[in-house]
Amino acid sequence: MLKIKKLKVNVGEKDILKWVSLDFEVGKNYLVLWKNGSGKSSLANFLMWNPKYEYKDGEVSIDKKDLLKLGVDERSGSWLFLSFQHIVEIPWINLWEYLRIIYNNYLEKKEIGVAKLSPFIFKRFIKKYLLELDIKESFLERDLNVGFSWGEKRKIEILQARLLDPKYMIFDEVDSGLDLDAFKVVASLIQKLDNENNSIIMITHNFKMIDYIKFDEVYVLKNGFVDKKWGLEIIDEIKKKGFE
Ligand SMILES: Nc1ncnc2c1ncn2[C@@H]1O[C@H](COP(=O)(O)OP(=O)(O)OP(=O)(O)O)[C@@H](O)[C@H]1O
Ligand SMILES: [Mg+2]
Repeated sequence: MLKIKKLKVNVGEKDILKWVSLDFEVGKNYLVLWKNGSGKSSLANFLMWNPKYEYKDGEVSIDKKDLLKLGVDERSGSWLFLSFQHIVEIPWINLWEYLRIIYNNYLEKKEIGVAKLSPFIFKRFIKKYLLELDIKESFLERDLNVGFSWGEKRKIEILQARLLDPKYMIFDEVDSGLDLDAFKVVASLIQKLDNENNSIIMITHNFKMIDYIKFDEVYVLKNGFVDKKWGLEIIDEIKKKGFE
């Protein structure tokens, strides 16, 4: 379980998260809703160890380990994954090599006794994933996300999730910048990631996501506070009355 208790986080002088208590259970999927600027991305970035977000108080544990004592690589080694709202382009980092390194690190952390994959073997290994996600092999010769369209960048993130098989996957507004067709593709690919050994935590304003992914619970984040956990019926209320 990923468990957040009375968390308080600042950025600069600003209290962004004032009182946030949430649990995410493996086998269940969650929607995190509320209006722009309420602190959803701040929460995701803080959990992943973005140093801009300053811890003030509260507890966060992942499978009973204290998440706040873990560095970013240990957090990903505990199978926490974030698909960013704003995906950055990183020049000089070749995508093939990047994916091979993260996959080899994954094998090492899983301790499944598989030898690291050489560039040659990895190129053969990754082909089935490229086919599955409809990504051209030539893309992988390019630098990480550089010049990729939004749909392509998002697919590269889903490819990383596919390789790393994370337990807790946070998707932060993955629909932003996508046209209707690209949205359908991305939502169906995320749907394929869903299984009983993981948890999809979807931050979104797009209720169409519920046509693709089966969500169990909804958290509504309001001005840095979380009121409580809701069932999916809250979505109809929000559709009728808006967020207020
Ligand atoms: N690095 C930062 N420096 C200064 N202010 C920040 C920083 N990150 C976030 N904030 C501020 O914190 C508040 C919450 O931002 P955040 O991006 O977490 O909201 P959000 O709920 O994800 O919004 P959206 O739905 O628009 O993505 C905003 O007022 C934002 O300007
Ligand atoms: Mg955001």
